[in-house]
Amino acid sequence: MTQVKQLTRRKFLKYSAASAAMLLIGPKLWAASPEFVPDVEIKLTASTGLEAILPGKKTSVSHYRAQLIKGLASTLQTIAGSYLGPIIRINKGQKIRVHFENKLAEESIIHWHGLHIPDNMDGHPQYAIGSGKTFVYEFEVKNRAGTYWFHPHPHGKTGSQVYAGLAGLFIVSDKEEQALTLPSAQYDIPLVIQDRNFDRNNQWRYTQGMMDRMMGIQGEKILVNGNADFVLPVETRPYRLRLLNGSNSRIYKLAWSDKSEFTVIGTDGGLIERPITKSFIALAPAERVELWVDFSGKTIGSEVTLQSLSFDDGSPMGRMGMMSRMMGKGRTNKSKSFNILSTKVVKKVQHTETLPALLTPLKRLSVNDAINAKSPRRFDLTMNRMNWGINNRTFKMNEVASNERVKLGTSEVWDIRNVESSGMMGMRGAMPHPIHIHGLQFLVIERSHHKGKNATAWNDVKDGYIDDGWKDTVLLMPGERVKVLLKFEDYKGKFLYHCHNLEHEDRGMMRNYQVT
Ligand code: C2O
Ligand code: CU
Ligand code: CU
Repeated sequence: MTQVKQLTRRKFLKYSAASAAMLLIGPKLWAASPEFVPDVEIKLTASTGLEAILPGKKTSVSHYRAQLIKGLASTLQTIAGSYLGPIIRINKGQKIRVHFENKLAEESIIHWHGLHIPDNMDGHPQYAIGSGKTFVYEFEVKNRAGTYWFHPHPHGKTGSQVYAGLAGLFIVSDKEEQALTLPSAQYDIPLVIQDRNFDRNNQWRYTQGMMDRMMGIQGEKILVNGNADFVLPVETRPYRLRLLNGSNSRIYKLAWSDKSEFTVIGTDGGLIERPITKSFIALAPAERVELWVDFSGKTIGSEVTLQSLSFDDGSPMGRMGMMSRMMGKGRTNKSKSFNILSTKVVKKVQHTETLPALLTPLKRLSVNDAINAKSPRRFDLTMNRMNWGINNRTFKMNEVASNERVKLGTSEVWDIRNVESSGMMGMRGAMPHPIHIHGLQFLVIERSHHKGKNATAWNDVKDGYIDDGWKDTVLLMPGERVKVLLKFEDYKGKFLYHCHNLEHEDRGMMRNYQVT
């Protein structure tokens, strides 16, 4: 506590000398409220640094650095060997205070992706703070156990700041999960998958070409936890792997090189009811999947690779072939397959852990409780004058349209459509869009496809969807229509919903919805 007071005072002195105007907005941003008694208190600083990622020159990155002010030492963990992170580990029901200090050269704000928290704590871009400022977050963790994450959310700069290295994990645990004795400690491993382009000096290129901004950035080099050619050394026992697609726009079609099946135990909003098996998994930007992977019985030295298989992403690159050649991109809509990481057995051990048949009973919402089950609220993913939008609108900081107002305490069905139409250059419904809704977790209750010319793209990935649990991000392939069931609880206010292709988001494929 004393430490916090000192911090605040130091800042106060610094800024009072700088300008009187700052004083006016100052206390709002810095002051921790005295009534709020945190179980966990952290200082999180965004700054820049140099990282050795490839052999040779270091890469300049942005990173979060954390310092524990109050709480158990196990609250803060680093992702081994990574500029990504930190991992904040917390229990459901705990209260957390985070002092976010922005030492970047530009404005920023942290968004807690997947958390159910008040709107003014959620990192809406209207709260972005300038260089040198601090924002104090205070909230109670109400989410069930799961792999949530955090990243910058200043409008128009989310893509470039995430690309530069700003992303961390917010891992919640609860009693139900602890009763299961799933693999823990060094056997519980987060894996953040990202793609990056490096120039000859090993620096990242966040290109601003028109094609990149319209389609989203894709990198040629795959990084896992910020490392190239990632190898995960494992023992002959089960692991809990928490995968996060932290890429700006790339979708992965994950599969094991030995064709073995995945055992999926969790998704965006935590554990699913029972483990399910999948021969491949479609993981879109911001989505998480938790796997139970058992290396028992394998011989020392054996290797299995996690790959991304080739699939048709339905992007208009094929149809826009000429434009693509003009831009010198040479991309096609059929992605190639590539390796993401390798696992390598390095040690024989004994263990007694077995996969639980029942993970956690899900308290599901019922469609019958939705106030609009018969006429769901409709969201069309659109394209106008080379800008992606939702219902033909793009983001305005404080704008809420009449069909974006919902009532606290009600459940609704949202009908999201990525359907092709003869819009400009026929591009509507021509790209995948991972749609994310802030402030809550929802259920995917129905998917359908119009079976038009984009059927190949849908057929390539649809068996890789995991719709069994709570979600905060859902992928819509071209031509696809998804109905989700959501409930607006506890907090009134203005929350975002948007495409989590970060270049689409930054260009305005984002809107507010208001809970009243
Ligand atoms: Cu992970 Cu509004 O985003
Ligand atoms: Cu979010
Ligand atoms: Cu999009």
